[in-house]
Amino acid sequence: MSLIVDHLKEAIKGETNAKLKYVLFAEQAEKENYPEIAHLFRAISSAESIHIKNHTQALAKITNSEVNIYEIVKINDDELKKQVKDTRNNLIQAIAGETFEFKEMYKSFIKDAKREDLYLAEFSFDLARKAEIVHSKLYIQYLKKLDKKENIEPIEINVCSICGNVVLGEAPKTCPNCDHEKKFFKKID
Ligand SMILES: [Fe+2]
Ligand SMILES: [Fe+2]
Repeated sequence: MSLIVDHLKEAIKGETNAKLKYVLFAEQAEKENYPEIAHLFRAISSAESIHIKNHTQALAKITNSEVNIYEIVKINDDELKKQVKDTRNNLIQAIAGETFEFKEMYKSFIKDAKREDLYLAEFSFDLARKAEIVHSKLYIQYLKKLDKKENIEPIEINVCSICGNVVLGEAPKTCPNCDHEKKFFKKID
């Protein structure tokens, strides 16, 4: 069990770092006059909050104790700020982070949780992993537009409050990631 507890903590750290970094990336995109890229960073930042919440709940249930997130995550603002580059490189960095999470981190965490029969952790990792695949695709889509100097039209962005899935345009009838209904989607400004 201690391995999975460590994995959950590691995932909470990674998600918190991503969440905070994307807020700074959004501010940078605004400065460079890319409001729609800023919008995407804000939406995905809010999606990472869902993963933090799910992992924290899984950790609390598995350890049967309250979880103090500040004991798990130590945020260094200067370190975080150092990671902010120009928007193109921020997108590349975000794609690398999301890809690492779904291809490596969550993949191995899911395997370990399955082996230890810790379904709650496995479920939380799996939901997050599916969302990270979507996040990475959206960042790639926006990077391509940026590189082609295509105008990115303003579009509604919805985040599933159950799994952190991110959808461009109107929320679907059910979330393709977790099957929850439309009402669980939250529109991000
Ligand atoms: Fe993500
Ligand atoms: Fe969902």
